[in-house]
Amino acid sequence: MTGTGGKKGGRVRKSSGRGQRDLTVKVKTARGRRNSSTRWLQRQLNDPYVQRAKAEGYRGRAAFKIMELDDKFRFLVNGARVVDLGCAPGGWAQVAVPRINALGEKSGKKVGTFLGIDLQEVEPLAGATFHQLDFMEDDADVKVKELLGGKADVVMSDMAASSSGHKQTDHLRIIALCEAAAYFAFDVLDEGGTFVAKVLAGGAEGELQKLLKLKFEKVMNVKPPSSRSDSSEKFVVAMGFKG
Ligand SMILES: C[S@@+](CC[C@H](N)C(=O)[O-])C[C@H]1O[C@@H](n2cnc3c(N)ncnc32)[C@H](O)[C@@H]1O
Repeated sequence: MTGTGGKKGGRVRKSSGRGQRDLTVKVKTARGRRNSSTRWLQRQLNDPYVQRAKAEGYRGRAAFKIMELDDKFRFLVNGARVVDLGCAPGGWAQVAVPRINALGEKSGKKVGTFLGIDLQEVEPLAGATFHQLDFMEDDADVKVKELLGGKADVVMSDMAASSSGHKQTDHLRIIALCEAAAYFAFDVLDEGGTFVAKVLAGGAEGELQKLLKLKFEKVMNVKPPSSRSDSSEKFVVAMGFKG
């Protein structure tokens, strides 16, 4: 096996079999790095969406998820007022800004607005406004409503708490984030509006689905092709807010 790295200490190397070259990037375990981190690094290095994001200038592979969802359901239209909860590092924003015409580049078309919220600071992006805020803190919804200054056409949430390593705990946390996003959406969406949120399949999302079905004309559960098949992540797309 030949390698471009291969020193103990976790350098990346490309492995090759006899004769034919195997381009799978293998990562050696390193002292101080957990096996799960090594697995994560190896998966990142071999993920075609990570490579595509890099090549196309997106801030992360998550960009392809909203792209695929919007290609299917068409909610990011010219002139849309969009709120993105858990927006860092800004991949969804990069996809949404041109689609909603937030920079006014499509003459004669309505100009959209994009407001992103995250715990983390986000590198500025033309056409988007970002605010650093914990959406789960008291009155966060009131603050976001003030920043929004009116109704929204789309509320989308890719919020995810950092993994606890315990599947059920992670599931309950993401459902809590999703519920908070949904109640915020009920408050700010204009009639006909769309709510998109990441959930994890695992049981507790049933109540949320029931609620969304009461509030929206259509509720779809989707796993976009770019969502890793080994992850229980899926997206709920609720369209036609009844007000
Ligand atoms: C998967 S990332 C979002 C990626 C984003 N959609 C993109 O395309 O760049 C999840 C984000 O949710 C944020 N987040 C988690 N809990 C949050 C909270 N309580 N308030 C605001 N943001 C939160 C995290 O900081 C993280 O940046």
